Amino acid sequence: MLPTTSWNIGNQRSDITNQDSATYDREVFRMTARLTIAIDGPAGSGKSTVARRVAAMLGYLYLDSGAMYRAVALKTLERKIALQDDERLVTLAAESHIELKAPTAEQEAVGLKNRVFLDGREVTQEIRTGEVAQAASRLATIAGVREVLVAEQRRARQGGGVVMEGRDIGTVVFPNAELKIFLEASPETRAERRWKEHQEKGESLTLLEVLQEVRERDERDRERKVSPLVRAKDAVLIDNTAMGIEETARLIVFLANERVPSAP
Ligand code: DC
Repeated sequence: MLPTTSWNIGNQRSDITNQDSATYDREVFRMTARLTIAIDGPAGSGKSTVARRVAAMLGYLYLDSGAMYRAVALKTLERKIALQDDERLVTLAAESHIELKAPTAEQEAVGLKNRVFLDGREVTQEIRTGEVAQAASRLATIAGVREVLVAEQRRARQGGGVVMEGRDIGTVVFPNAELKIFLEASPETRAERRWKEHQEKGESLTLLEVLQEVRERDERDRERKVSPLVRAKDAVLIDNTAMGIEETARLIVFLANERVPSAP
C-alpha cells in the first residue's frame, strides 16, 4: 500500500511533538521544494481531475495548458477568422494575452478547472463548448501557434510549484520537469468516463459513439506532425484503467516526494 502523505501545505501542525520534529522539518523542506510536475495523456485518461487533486495535495498551482488553445480558439471564432488561415492565426495568438488563475470555490464546485482570462476578459465558461474544442484542436496543429503558447506556458510556471497538464508538457514545454507522468487508460474505460460526463450533461450519445470519438481523437493526437502525443522517455507511465482518482493522485504525490532533493 502507498504511504499517505501528511505534508499538505494547508495542514495545521500544532499537534507536533518533539519526537516528530525531525520528520516535520523534513516535511517542511519537501513542501517548500517547488517542483514542476508535467502530466500528459490522451482524452479521458483522467489527467485533469488527477492533476487538480495532486496540485491541491501539494499546495501547488494547477495549470491547464489546453485552456490556452481554447482561449485563442474562442478569439478566432469571435473574429470570424478562417481556421485555415495559419498566418493570421499565429499573429492572433501572438497578440493575445492569456492568464490562468485558480478557480473560485463556486467555479471549482461546478467542475471548472482554471479561471481563464483572454486580454483581461474572463472566458472561463465560454471556452468550454464543443465548437471551441473543435477549433482548438485545429489550432493545436499549427506550429507557430504552438510556439507562442508554449512560451506563455513556460512563463506561467513562474518559480515552480506547478502541476501542468496537456499533451506535450513533458516532451516540449518542460523537458526538464522534475516529475513527468504519462497517464493512460484503456480506450473502453476512457470512453465510458466520457460517456458518463455526456450523460450528466443530458447529452444522449451511445457508448459506442463515444468510443469511436475517443479512438478518432487518439489517432489525431498521436499522429499529428507537430508535438504529437507521445510519452517522454523519462515519464512514468501510469495506467489507471483499474485505479480511482484518489489512488492515482496519491501515487503521483508519492513519486513527487521521491524527486525532492534530500534535506540539507
Ligand atoms: O485538453 P483540452 O481538450 O482542453 O485541449 C484542447 C485542445 O488543445 C485539444 O485538441 C488538444 C490541444 N492541446 C494540445 O495540443 N497541447 C496541449 N498541451 C494542450 C492541449
